[in-house]
Amino acid sequence: MVITQPAAPGPAIRLDDLTKTFGPLHAVSGLTLEVAAGQVFGFLGPNGAGKSTTIRMIMGLSAPSSGTATVLGTDAWDDGPGVRARIGYLAGELALPPRLTGDAILGWTARARNVENRSRRHELAERFQADLRRPVGTLSKGNRQKIGIIRAFEHDPELLVLDEPTSGLDPLLQKQFDDLLAETVQRGRTVFLSSHELDEVQRVAHNIAIIRGGELVLADTVSALRARAPRSVELTFSAPVDKAEFDALPGVQVLGQQNGRLVLAVSGEVGPLLEAAASHHAIDILARPADLDVLFRSFYRAPQEVPVAR
Ligand SMILES: Nc1ncnc2c1ncn2[C@@H]1O[C@H](COP(=O)(O)OP(=O)(O)OP(=O)(O)O)[C@@H](O)[C@H]1O
Ligand SMILES: [Mg+2]
Repeated sequence: MVITQPAAPGPAIRLDDLTKTFGPLHAVSGLTLEVAAGQVFGFLGPNGAGKSTTIRMIMGLSAPSSGTATVLGTDAWDDGPGVRARIGYLAGELALPPRLTGDAILGWTARARNVENRSRRHELAERFQADLRRPVGTLSKGNRQKIGIIRAFEHDPELLVLDEPTSGLDPLLQKQFDDLLAETVQRGRTVFLSSHELDEVQRVAHNIAIIRGGELVLADTVSALRARAPRSVELTFSAPVDKAEFDALPGVQVLGQQNGRLVLAVSGEVGPLLEAAASHHAIDILARPADLDVLFRSFYRAPQEVPVAR
């Protein structure tokens, strides 16, 4: 018998002061964040930031040193099996029995879950061009990853926790994956995914958190981040101008100067810059849309300048 649990009230995931130490190393330090139900939440950070460690605590596979991970209303460590039964999980280091075929692995998982949906499996396999008939040990990394993705999505769980799901997928399949995420949240499911692909996450996620050195350095919506992200602006003047004057404008940073041309990064309002440009008789302007990458990179690299947003 399949028991369908009612959607949990409140956030899909809540981390409260979650901490994991390995001896002297603080792999995750005092992480507090909420993942609202029905959205794609992107969890970003450089290598070794603590993403997989956090995810293993969310899955109830690793005990927090202190703090809690509440998943679908249940403490993940108190009831790991109960929590895992309601999640589609893709581990960062996917371990599949090499001699078994995709079909055998997925069939076994489905029986263990008590949910078998072959038509969904074959629809997903077709979509990702996955070969379910060969032993997975003979498949390439990307082709093995597809089996892991199908396993996470096949039973249509209310929450998906995916640790770097697109590693090894080629760009066409990444697009398929983006579409699958969009359909999944449209049906009211929640997706928590880790990545170090800034570009991927800004494409698919509504909310983003960035961790570095085990600590949360930023949590915000993608749209709010876009509003804050620096735009690239190029101004051309009939004669060289004093770059220091432009550098001193609020939110303006001069990135380069060549004869009468200035290349700037501008965050916030552009009014003061336009006034200064007009007063120097600017003859041309070229502005590019906000680039989240530039903003993200600053969070990845410059610990001393980063405000903690919680
Ligand atoms: N079992 C363990 N024993 C000791 N240290 C560990 C263990 N697991 C993780 N760490 C350390 O904790 C830190 C965080 O590792 P984690 O795997 O969570 O990073 P990550 O953000 O997932 O990185 P990546 O992007 O490379 O997957 C690293 O310094 C890692 O070496
Ligand atoms: Mg990892």
